[in-house]
Amino acid sequence: MKKLMRVVLIVAFGLVVVAGLAVAALALRRPAQRPPSAERIELTPERFARGAYLVEHLADCLTCHSDLRADRYGMPIKPGTIGQGGFPFGKEFAVPGVVCAQNITPDPENGIGTWTDGEVLRAVREGVDKNGNALFPMMQYKAYRLFSDEDAKSVVAYIRTLAPVKHAVPARNLDFPVNLLIKLEPQPLEGPVSAPDPKTDRIGYGRYLAVVGGCRECHTPHDDKGKLLPKKDYSGGWEMKGPWGRNITPNLTPHADAYLGRATKAEFIGRFKSFVSLTGDNAPVAPKGRNTIMPWLPFSGLTEDDLGMLYDYFKTLAPIENKVNPFPDAAPAPPALKANRDRPR
Ligand code: HEC
Ligand code: HEC
Repeated sequence: MKKLMRVVLIVAFGLVVVAGLAVAALALRRPAQRPPSAERIELTPERFARGAYLVEHLADCLTCHSDLRADRYGMPIKPGTIGQGGFPFGKEFAVPGVVCAQNITPDPENGIGTWTDGEVLRAVREGVDKNGNALFPMMQYKAYRLFSDEDAKSVVAYIRTLAPVKHAVPARNLDFPVNLLIKLEPQPLEGPVSAPDPKTDRIGYGRYLAVVGGCRECHTPHDDKGKLLPKKDYSGGWEMKGPWGRNITPNLTPHADAYLGRATKAEFIGRFKSFVSLTGDNAPVAPKGRNTIMPWLPFSGLTEDDLGMLYDYFKTLAPIENKVNPFPDAAPAPPALKANRDRPR
């Protein structure tokens, strides 16, 4: 018996040492990365237009990276705060510590004014900052690694044109072990990246839009470590809490019980377009429990063609059954609202 205890103790001690060495190795390790490219990205009129479309609409960089009117329907951006940095996410929103979307205006002190184009490009698609440190994957670099080289350059060229804002955000402070584990997330790209051609591959391009636009991230359930559950893509059910309240993302697969099972393409496009005149100045205060983190306002600027390709892509997905209530904290809708449940009130 004594001998057995001794063996158990030795094994336990060995495990502690191994775990300690693993932690030490991770603490010393730099995230996977390659040097930033040395190129200067020229701002052409085409890049300015494409960059504005990607940053303000499809990839919706600015909702995370600006201050929001959290009480207004659809969380519009507070005028004058574009790119200045966002709301601090902490424990109350299931983040292990505090993380804030940084100031991405060209302000040299608080923003990215001193970064080279190559450093910004690398941060957006490969997930390391100017100094090669890992970015917390709430920054959607895993989706943005799909950005074609030309789209990525347009994004960088465009954010260089934002007005500089002097505004500091709180420093990141993540708990152990997440502070070390995020070092494993960044992944360098290995060569040139191209996107599917919408003229010949509309479904492939629809998928590109769905990943880069964050539809996949938000509309797929996550495990308790924040990873997407396998084989559940777009089936909804991720609970999202923040200054807007609480939402559960709906199912975007074409199951008969889900919206994509019922809606026609014209209805789908029309639903996005119905938000086109809402802004930070005129969006109404959302009724209790009915505000939404779904980027309806930014997405209302997507082209009908892109929305059509998103619809066509979702229609190719295997239907998954999953009925959700996206507004779990809202009082039941009055009958008049129910009849018109697809419209904001
Ligand atoms: C879901 C929210 C979200 C979206 C959408 C988002 N970001 Fe971020 N971004 C973050 C967060 C959070 C950080 C900070 C990560 C950290 O500190 O580890 C960040 C960091 C960055 C950084 C590094 C800044 C620094 O000082 O370290 C850049 C550059 C950046 N984002 C650009 C973009 C661009 C360009 C887009 C759109 C293509 C975008 N972000 C979309 C949340 C977001
Ligand atoms: C930041 C998270 C987030 C992103 C990104 C996002 N959604 Fe959503 N979406 C939600 C939430 C939350 C709801 C439920 C609340 C609502 O209807 O406003 C929702 C609702 C919807 C609905 C209504 C579904 C129904 O059952 O009535 C559609 C359609 C939709 N999203 C499509 C998309 C598409 C297309 C994209 C990508 C271009 C996308 N979403 C990206 C969070 C997100």
